[in-house]
Amino acid sequence: MAGRLFLLILAVTAELSLTVTTAGAVGVNWGTEASHPLPPSKVVELLKSNGIAKVKLFDADPKVLRALSGSNIGVAVGIPNSMIKSLNASRKVAESWVHDNVTRYFNGGNRVRIEYVAVGDEPFHQSYGNQYRPFVIGAAMNIQNALAKASLGSEVKVVVPSSFDSFLSESGRPSLGHFRADLNKTMIELLSFLTKHHSPFFVTISPFLSFHQNKNISLDFSLFKETAQAHKDRRKTYRNSYDLSYDTLASALSSIGFSDVDIVVSKIGWPTDGAANATSPTAEVFLKGLMAHLEKKTGSLLRPPVETYIGSLLDEDQRNISSGNFERHWGVFTFDGQAKYGFSFNHNSKKLVNAQNVQYLPPKWCVVNNNKDLSNVSAKALEACAVADCTSILPGGTCSGIGWPGNVSYAFNSLYQQNDHSAESCDFGGLGLITTVDPSEDNCRFSVQLDTSHSSSQIPHFFQSWLLLLLFLLSVPF
Ligand SMILES: *[C@@H]1O[C@H](CO)[C@@H](O)[C@H](O)[C@H]1NC(C)=O
Ligand SMILES: *[C@@H]1O[C@H](CO)[C@@H](O)[C@H](O)[C@H]1NC(C)=O
Ligand SMILES: *[C@@H]1O[C@H](CO)[C@@H](O)[C@H](O)[C@H]1NC(C)=O
Ligand SMILES: *[C@@H]1O[C@H](CO)[C@@H](O)[C@H](O)[C@H]1NC(C)=O
Ligand SMILES: *[C@@H]1O[C@H](CO)[C@@H](O)[C@H](O)[C@H]1NC(C)=O
Ligand SMILES: *[C@@H]1O[C@H](CO)[C@@H](O)[C@H](O)[C@H]1NC(C)=O
Ligand SMILES: *[C@@H]1O[C@H](CO)[C@@H](O)[C@H](O)[C@H]1NC(C)=O
Ligand SMILES: *[C@@H]1O[C@H](CO)[C@@H](O)[C@H](O)[C@H]1NC(C)=O
Repeated sequence: MAGRLFLLILAVTAELSLTVTTAGAVGVNWGTEASHPLPPSKVVELLKSNGIAKVKLFDADPKVLRALSGSNIGVAVGIPNSMIKSLNASRKVAESWVHDNVTRYFNGGNRVRIEYVAVGDEPFHQSYGNQYRPFVIGAAMNIQNALAKASLGSEVKVVVPSSFDSFLSESGRPSLGHFRADLNKTMIELLSFLTKHHSPFFVTISPFLSFHQNKNISLDFSLFKETAQAHKDRRKTYRNSYDLSYDTLASALSSIGFSDVDIVVSKIGWPTDGAANATSPTAEVFLKGLMAHLEKKTGSLLRPPVETYIGSLLDEDQRNISSGNFERHWGVFTFDGQAKYGFSFNHNSKKLVNAQNVQYLPPKWCVVNNNKDLSNVSAKALEACAVADCTSILPGGTCSGIGWPGNVSYAFNSLYQQNDHSAESCDFGGLGLITTVDPSEDNCRFSVQLDTSHSSSQIPHFFQSWLLLLLFLLSVPF
């Protein structure tokens, strides 16, 4: 038994080191803004079986870090934006954050290979205004000092993931790239801090957003198609949107005097729902094109990235959609760890490997009861959508074509799944109906949620059900 375990560990380690050396370092973002997250142990299995050697997190959830311990997967732990201000204000707060969320995992045999602490999640995004910007560098310095105090200053790098909108070139010419004017000073401070500690610059590159926001960027240019019309800048010719953005960033860095800093593309991907051309086939073409491009290591890149994190591993049904309905559909896998398309992180295989033995709720759905007067049903759908995830039925969504009242059923089901099949959540004033017949059609999937009742966070819920049962039994007259 112990021998077999040892062989297994050897095999996994060998597989991981292989991907690190051949494909350059390609990792994934693992976000957990989901109503029913896939259990961390299943996600770690998913990472291993797909040969993914690096993962970037958005917080430091002990359940997630425990699942990663002993895996040899390189980890970037994250600090939520909401903590940045207090981390700037107090060294003590930074020290206890590092103690709780980093140092702890360096002790003992089952280490977590923490490589980075990411301060904030794109705190310079334009939509935040100045909410976080003045505190970011101070927070990063306090975390750096706390790491040094814990003798981890050289092992763990402090980084600040910068958003896609932090740099630009109005003319579309990469050679004229610069940082957003309101960030100029902060970027100089950030880059000085990073280079002093030999840390890389983390930044989102987003050919999808370029395409989505910029009429001058064609779909073919975004998807690395050889037939795309090239963009010219002085003597340079750009054949794809990725190189164009990347060199725009490189120019921005040079313009403030930091042309040598290592660049990590901390988020890049293509969503599969919630916008025009956000589909699985398009995402497949994009990711295959990206991987082939990264492996070539040539092209017109001024300085290739030292690491690249695909965004995201899984879909997340609770992500903020203020910037677009596609925000909940960045996953290479669906919320339940099933591959959306043919792709591979790994030279040795051609296909993604799905999550195994996933626990679902029973095969039940909530739909509109067609035998009722449905004249007021649309108002009920809107109520459901205020809480549940309706991004797929909105314009541009994969279910936007199912019409009425199919879209109302979709909304009803979404709320019912989110509430773990509670009967009340399918009431809708008597207009809802629970069914065991899968209402999915063509590309429009009515999902059944994951059964998360076994995870520790659900214990209060579990007790609640027992309490209700007890009350019910007591109320039955004998
Ligand atoms: C960050 O914290 C330092 C130390 O407490 C403080 O002096 C500084 O004013 C803070 N920065 C901002 C922008 O509030
Ligand atoms: C450690 O990280 C977790 C998860 O992000 C957070 O809730 C907790 O407050 C952190 N610990 C400290 C001492 O800041
Ligand atoms: C738009 O794209 C063309 C190439 O397709 C390029 O020549 C032109 O400079 C671009 N204009 C802007 C404003 O980006
Ligand atoms: C940003 O800073 C650089 C270097 O100090 C300077 O040359 C440039 O003009 C500044 N740009 C803006 C928009 O302030
Ligand atoms: C992209 O989306 C537009 C608008 O929905 C559509 O007309 C076009 O056919 C799509 N292109 C591809 C290649 O899917
Ligand atoms: C979503 O993000 C926007 C822009 O940052 C913010 O104004 C809004 O409060 C966020 N919504 C939620 C529910 O967090
Ligand atoms: C629909 O809503 C209107 C206005 O609230 C109400 O008068 C009417 O009785 C409702 N119809 C049904 C079938 O519930
Ligand atoms: C459902 O579809 C109908 C007709 O296309 C539309 O008017 C309605 O707004 C849609 N409802 C929702 C909740 O998307």
